[in-house]
Amino acid sequence: MNENTSPVTIADIEKIAAEKIPGFAFDYYSSGADDEITLRENSNAFDRILLNYRVLVDVSSRDLSVTILGEKISMPVIIAPTAFHRLAHPDGEMAVARAASAEQTIMTLSTLSNSGLEEVARETNWPLWFQLYVFKDREVTRELVSKAETAGCKALVLTVDAPLLGRRIRDVRNRFNLPEGIVVKNLEPFMKEMLPRDQESGIAGYFARNLDPSLSWKDVEWLKSITRLPVIVKGIICREDAMLAVENGVDGIVVSNHGGRQLDTCSATVDALPGIAEAVSKKILVLMDGGVRRGTDVLKAVALGADAVLIGRPVIYGLGYDGEKGVRKVFEILRTELDLAMALCGCRSIGEIKRSLIVK
Ligand code: FNR
Ligand code: LAC
Repeated sequence: MNENTSPVTIADIEKIAAEKIPGFAFDYYSSGADDEITLRENSNAFDRILLNYRVLVDVSSRDLSVTILGEKISMPVIIAPTAFHRLAHPDGEMAVARAASAEQTIMTLSTLSNSGLEEVARETNWPLWFQLYVFKDREVTRELVSKAETAGCKALVLTVDAPLLGRRIRDVRNRFNLPEGIVVKNLEPFMKEMLPRDQESGIAGYFARNLDPSLSWKDVEWLKSITRLPVIVKGIICREDAMLAVENGVDGIVVSNHGGRQLDTCSATVDALPGIAEAVSKKILVLMDGGVRRGTDVLKAVALGADAVLIGRPVIYGLGYDGEKGVRKVFEILRTELDLAMALCGCRSIGEIKRSLIVK
């Protein structure tokens, strides 16, 4: 693509971002674990799913909005929590929050953000969710929860698929670490050291030292007991755990394999989704992420039982491409594609996207 061409697809944006973002950071963002089989499967699985469609439906007016935990958002696409946005653009999470606000959707802020919860919360008029990693030192978690509440966050997203960090080969080779001057703002009060410099991948070392691999459903109960915010569990990939999530009274789940960054060769999320949605049978919110790059991917996920999807890398690539405007461009592309896909499928609203659209 030449420099003057503006991007038309998410893949175009990724290509430009790959040129603009420093190599070690692009490696961190784009990697999956080990052989990156699940990373590729997340997208390939969407491509294998074919669509049926209805005709002669009056689709002259279409509404893409959905209501998630009582809040109306402009389309069923939410910003996934991803770490370290300042490696992609100097405005980092602040730009992403402004884009979320302009696009009228929810942003989920990572525990490992470079900008702090409070300052990011001020940049958006739409709901901000806070993603939680649970530390061996429970006081750290308690403090983060209380900060999230004070900052006005509308939900906690507890990530449960990272008792240890997956092995991302490119990060090991690069000895991934944060450059001087880029901090993990929310953790500053608790961090005596930044990422350790003596490890293969600084972030993997940090996880191993500080995050709690003993996390279990008991801790979910504990979390619920210390907060009034809804709790969403992120990183469910099998039916049994989805049913336990319902039994344990959480408000929602994210069907996710962490964008293929944890257990390599695990199932693509869109393949896991229908069984999980069936098991949950609408008792709680069902979100999904992993490999969503097209409007038709959003439509397929909704048809297979998701209330909405989250996007991770596309947001980072948009940020690297052109800051807030670049993230908005990602949403503009997905919105155009989803709107067209709905029209061509005979769907006037998100509620009309049904399982019957999926070819068996
Ligand atoms: C992530 N993800 C993630 N998840 C989380 O709960 N906390 C985090 O801090 C991060 N950090 C993070 C960094 C980067 C660079 C990536 C790519 C991903 C996982 C993320 O929330 C989401 O599950 C995936 O990114 C979804 O897949 P796609 O959309 O990137 O294909
Ligand atoms: C990652 C962590 C930080 O995937 O969630 O890199």
